[in-house]
Amino acid sequence: MSVIALVPPGVYAPQEDTELLAGALSDEPLPPGAEVLDVGTGSGALALEAARRGSRVTAVDVSWSAVWAARLNARVAGLPVRILHGNLFEPVRDEMFDVILANPPYVPAPDGHRRPPRGAARAWDAGGDGRLVVDRICRQAPGLLRPGGVLLLVQSALSGPDLTVGQLRAAGLKAAVTRRRRIPLGPVLRGRERWLRERGLLSAADDKEELVVVRAELPV
Ligand SMILES: C[S@@+](CC[C@H](N)C(=O)[O-])C[C@H]1O[C@@H](n2cnc3c(N)ncnc32)[C@H](O)[C@@H]1O
Repeated sequence: MSVIALVPPGVYAPQEDTELLAGALSDEPLPPGAEVLDVGTGSGALALEAARRGSRVTAVDVSWSAVWAARLNARVAGLPVRILHGNLFEPVRDEMFDVILANPPYVPAPDGHRRPPRGAARAWDAGGDGRLVVDRICRQAPGLLRPGGVLLLVQSALSGPDLTVGQLRAAGLKAAVTRRRRIPLGPVLRGRERWLRERGLLSAADDKEELVVVRAELPV
């Protein structure tokens, strides 16, 4: 994955999940001019990967800091990416895509059932079960895919990838986990390690988190 020019404070810096999803994207045969959507673009890293391959890329983020950072990174890279501010698919609700990329917030949060994530934590916190945004993507993304179109979504094994696969299959897509990577617990998970172990999300012996990519294709 290429280096991003600018990641201001409060914008998610590309990490292992970004890299895992970029690897999954590299497996996809993107025809020239394919329409790609990067939802929750952050610094724009994944949008730029797709644009480098000649795709027509749209990126969306709910954070204005992310939108400005991604616009600047696209300009520095000299790549034409349309970058919109908005909540998930709202800014593109009448459009269709060949590929949808999503690295959404997916970390279970101890107080997630009581209050919505705020500030920088909006990039990772996703309710008590980590599925606040993933469930919405499972419901809405199938309606924005062209026949043969593909959703690539990265999440933690802590937030129910089996549920993701099940929901996408129920929507008529061919879905499966196609990539996995185990990584050391980062600062956010270490800070709530005890709570995760009490809830049975991490076993006593587990000192790593597993990231997975779910690939879901709408049959032609
Ligand atoms: C884990 S970061 C991923 C950033 C980038 N795609 C990457 O892989 O490095 C999640 C991003 O989703 C954005 N986000 C969170 N909730 C969103 C929503 N409802 N609609 C659009 N973007 C959202 C956050 O602002 C953040 O930039």
